Amino acid sequence: MPAKIVGLGRAVPEPVLTNHDLEQRIDTSDEWIRTRTGLSERHVAPDGVDNSDLVAEASRLAIEDAGLTPEAIDVMIVATATPDTVFPSTACWAQPKIGLREIPVMDISAACSGFLYGYALAASLIDSGRAKRVLVCGAEVLTRVLNWNDRSTCVLFGDGAGAAVIGTGGADEGLLAHTWGADGRLAELLYQPAGGTRQPASHQTVEARLHSVHMQGNDVFKHAVRTMSHASLAVLEQAGISPEQIDLFVPHQANIRIMKAAADRARIPMERCYLVIQRYGNVSAASIPMALADARAEGRLEPGMTVLSAGFGAGFTWAAAVYRL
Ligand code: ACO
Repeated sequence: MPAKIVGLGRAVPEPVLTNHDLEQRIDTSDEWIRTRTGLSERHVAPDGVDNSDLVAEASRLAIEDAGLTPEAIDVMIVATATPDTVFPSTACWAQPKIGLREIPVMDISAACSGFLYGYALAASLIDSGRAKRVLVCGAEVLTRVLNWNDRSTCVLFGDGAGAAVIGTGGADEGLLAHTWGADGRLAELLYQPAGGTRQPASHQTVEARLHSVHMQGNDVFKHAVRTMSHASLAVLEQAGISPEQIDLFVPHQANIRIMKAAADRARIPMERCYLVIQRYGNVSAASIPMALADARAEGRLEPGMTVLSAGFGAGFTWAAAVYRL
């Protein structure tokens, strides 16, 4: 019984920060941001809205979309790099907001690859008989870990959540092939230096802005293109599916140029690539499930379609999947 996405939901906080708004705050331009990254605006969680609130809203919508109630969920996995608290998990904060039973709930930390890591874990739980329905949510409040004086990072990210209920499908449905990996030797190319136990919060860490995203953008760019392309080609081969048979490519939405290069190398034309970066920015683990929910709402994603997704993020981590809804 293949693990199939049977419900989708997405949530964004209402406030929108446009590139033009950013022009008023830092030395940047709408033109630079759009041409280098593809994004025009992003949503920003206001004070009082937590990551777990976005998880709860997206999850409730996904459960409803699946025609289920919260009691039907056996396990919840939240993929996030921006948890409500270091402990307990964001999943624990979200659990009562969704109204889930006393089921196992947990966070996983795989940055932008988090949703595809979560899908694989859900499939394993279902395959092994330990769960029938797993809620996988990618959610981020990245705008709270940005250095708003660093124009090379602060323009890139946004807040939001996307959730999927993973249940069982029929033959030729669900997860057809999956690949994943990580290379921790490259961790310092993209990380948040302080706030963990290595560098706990102190006046010095706050003054040095070590609680924000630190990134070597050019290096991340090159690794992202290479790795997302390799992973996409590997998973297509594993599935025995040619690029022409992919109805929709829904990659992690980091940067329009990364997505174009990955699509090009996987030989998938951009008309079959679904983009939401223009309205959400890079929402890390949330980007793929948010894009899936929007693609379906716009009629771009229909039952029976074959989808390719690929993700790459801090760690570095990566994953790719071929699946049918
Ligand atoms: N506005 C205006 N100018 C800027 C800005 C800005 N916001 N940011 C940087 N610049 C300037 C730089 O100072 C530099 O100026 P200089 O030539 O006078 O020194 C110039 O623009 C070019 O800077 P580069 O860093 O070379 O620009 P690049 O074309 O590499 O684009 C970017 C930078 C967008 C960050 C790119 O490297 C990138 O997208 N990297 C991937 C990062 C990413 O996606 N990270 C997300 C997490 S991982 C993931 O999700 C895959």
